[in-house]
Amino acid sequence: MISIDRDGDIAIVTVDNPPVNALGQALRQGLWDAVGTLDADDTIRAVVLICAGRTFIAGADVTEFGKPPMPPHLPDLVDRLEQAAKPWTAAIHGSALGGGFEVAMGCRFRVALDTASVGLPEVSLGIVPGASGTVRTPRLAGVEAAVDLVTTGRPVKAAKALSLGLIDALVTGDLRAEAVAFARTVLTQPLPQPISTRPVTSPDPAWWDEQKKAITKRAKGEIAPLRALDCLRVAAEKPFADAMAHERATFLDLRASDQAAALRHIFFAERAAPKPAHLNAKPKDIRSAAVIGGGTMGAGIAAALRDAGLPVILIERDDEAVQRGLANLRNIFDGAVKRGKLTEAQAQARMDGVTAGSDYALLADTDLVIEAVFEDLSVKRAVFTQLGQTCRPDAILATNTSYLDPRLIAQGLPHPDRFIGLHFFSPANVMKLLEIVPTPTTSNETLATGFALARALNKIPVQAGICDGFIGNRILKRYRAEAETLVRQGTPIAAIDAAMRAHGFAMGPFEAQDLGGLDIAYLQREGARAAGQDVPETLGDILVRAGRKGQKTAGGWYDYAPGDRTPQPSETTAALLADHITTGPVLTAESIAARLTGAMAAEGKAILAEGIALKPSDIDLVKVHGYGYPRWRGGPMFAVAG
Ligand code: 3HC
Ligand code: NAI
Repeated sequence: MISIDRDGDIAIVTVDNPPVNALGQALRQGLWDAVGTLDADDTIRAVVLICAGRTFIAGADVTEFGKPPMPPHLPDLVDRLEQAAKPWTAAIHGSALGGGFEVAMGCRFRVALDTASVGLPEVSLGIVPGASGTVRTPRLAGVEAAVDLVTTGRPVKAAKALSLGLIDALVTGDLRAEAVAFARTVLTQPLPQPISTRPVTSPDPAWWDEQKKAITKRAKGEIAPLRALDCLRVAAEKPFADAMAHERATFLDLRASDQAAALRHIFFAERAAPKPAHLNAKPKDIRSAAVIGGGTMGAGIAAALRDAGLPVILIERDDEAVQRGLANLRNIFDGAVKRGKLTEAQAQARMDGVTAGSDYALLADTDLVIEAVFEDLSVKRAVFTQLGQTCRPDAILATNTSYLDPRLIAQGLPHPDRFIGLHFFSPANVMKLLEIVPTPTTSNETLATGFALARALNKIPVQAGICDGFIGNRILKRYRAEAETLVRQGTPIAAIDAAMRAHGFAMGPFEAQDLGGLDIAYLQREGARAAGQDVPETLGDILVRAGRKGQKTAGGWYDYAPGDRTPQPSETTAALLADHITTGPVLTAESIAARLTGAMAAEGKAILAEGIALKPSDIDLVKVHGYGYPRWRGGPMFAVAG
């Protein structure tokens, strides 16, 4: 796990603890002992700390978090490194995160490859840095940089880290050789002060109040960012030892919290999702892709494919629609330029990789085709008939349908083993979730290719069985139905939305429907009714029939003033629904949230029992990544199990 090598009078301590050099007990002990060994070795004048594998130390070992802490404790190790008789230089590649960056701050110097990044992501695990991250960082880089780094949890790239003073030098090429050369050069200069003894200047109280306000708003119920700010303030105002004690107490308190348990659950679920145990085939190589339909979803999917570097063919119905599709795609990339995510040149390169037209002959040699045309069985079947005639027999053919039965869409398709559902979420180039829906004829190879595609697109894949709405939309339907039941029982619409926001959702169920439009679900229900299914009338149906489709019609569940998206309780809606509403007991916000998340979990349980979802954590990932379920609550299944 630890080996010590030497280059003249410089010792090189190499950490090798795959996969990410996490600081489990054995590694902490190994580093502890290495400090002692090297301090006692008179032939050594300085030490380089470097890691094998894909990254520098990526942090504490999260799998130890459910267990009692074992010595040597990380804060003591960081102190020991700082007090070592020989100056240590951390040589960073990959990521130095959390405890990894704290170890680097214990070292007297930090050098990093230009491709590396450093950060303190602890808040994303519901905790604060626990080994001086909140105390040393402001002493190293100033309070403002520390507050940004610690309360957002976002890592920074090496160049930014250098400009903030978090690292001392950027290197390229051979990290080990460069770090050894660096360690040797700095021996000729006076040593910098250890970080723990450096001064720190606290901004005035008004600045701290401002930060608190902004973080409270952003955190939406998540506690760790505010507790991190509190630690940073103590660190800026109190002596080092007091601040360390405060940080440690906060860390141990949060480590045992429900929010931290929920966030760890999602952390491990996300990492398990791309590699389900039953995936037993090699994925196909996908080097080119096509999208049929350049509307909301088609353009978003095409953008996601281009972002992943794949050449894309976009097929639309006619020339005019082709131009509209290209304009939709251009809009997405222009938006990215405006937000500073892409340069003009990168946006242009994204567009240059798109070939658009209405002739299916363009698809003759494409590896993967994703259909995103109107949600209409006959339209989709006609598309797949053409795809069956023009594509290579081994091309993967996928549908992005939301509700239609993929088996019916693929009926008559030659080589149905290469057909699969790939359900993206809007906006498809942004949303992380991808539901992967195999049919009974989908081959293992095609399924594995769906998962590999998700990885290439940086999405979180969740396998779903075939039913109305797959996993996500089926639970959404139940959630909305339960919200309507509450309205029928006398709970005000605005009270329900407020309760769900207080629970951590960005929006409540009714304001979300007003934003997206009530007509989509209405048309789907009407379609089912026309097909002879017994679909009871919803309150939403009453509103749509009265012309209230949401914000686009200036009213739905709420009224909206022109140019203003603030929902205003509506007398018109109240009058339309009056006959369907009884007066019931006044529910607290907590009991409203419990009813609605309980309904989601109940539907989740049914979905599991039917084999539509393979495991509870898959359902949690769907709700967290596709439907705004607060990550720090761990998803509906975790909430009822935990
Ligand atoms: N502890 C335990 N296991 C970890 C881990 C950690 N900190 N970080 C990653 N792993 C595991 C993953 O579960 C996964 O295991 P698997 O192969 O069995 O599924 C494996 O390492 C690889 O992880 P990724 O798939 O995420 O690997 P990538 O190469 O894509 O990413 C990474 C590498 C950027 C380092 C990413 O793993 C990461 O962000 N890790 C978490 C870093 C983090 O949150 N650190 C802070 C921990 S808290 C802390 O340090 C507290 C301290 O202040 C006291
Ligand atoms: P849209 O109406 O914005 O786009 C559909 C596009 O398909 C239009 O541009 C249309 O010209 C084109 N089209 C229609 N017939 C075609 C044909 N035969 N050949 C080529 N192009 C054709 O619809 P949207 O919202 O993009 O939905 C597309 C599909 O994605 C639907 O199946 C929908 O259920 C699904 N979906 C939609 C989501 C959403 O939030 N809008 C989310 C997830 C899936």
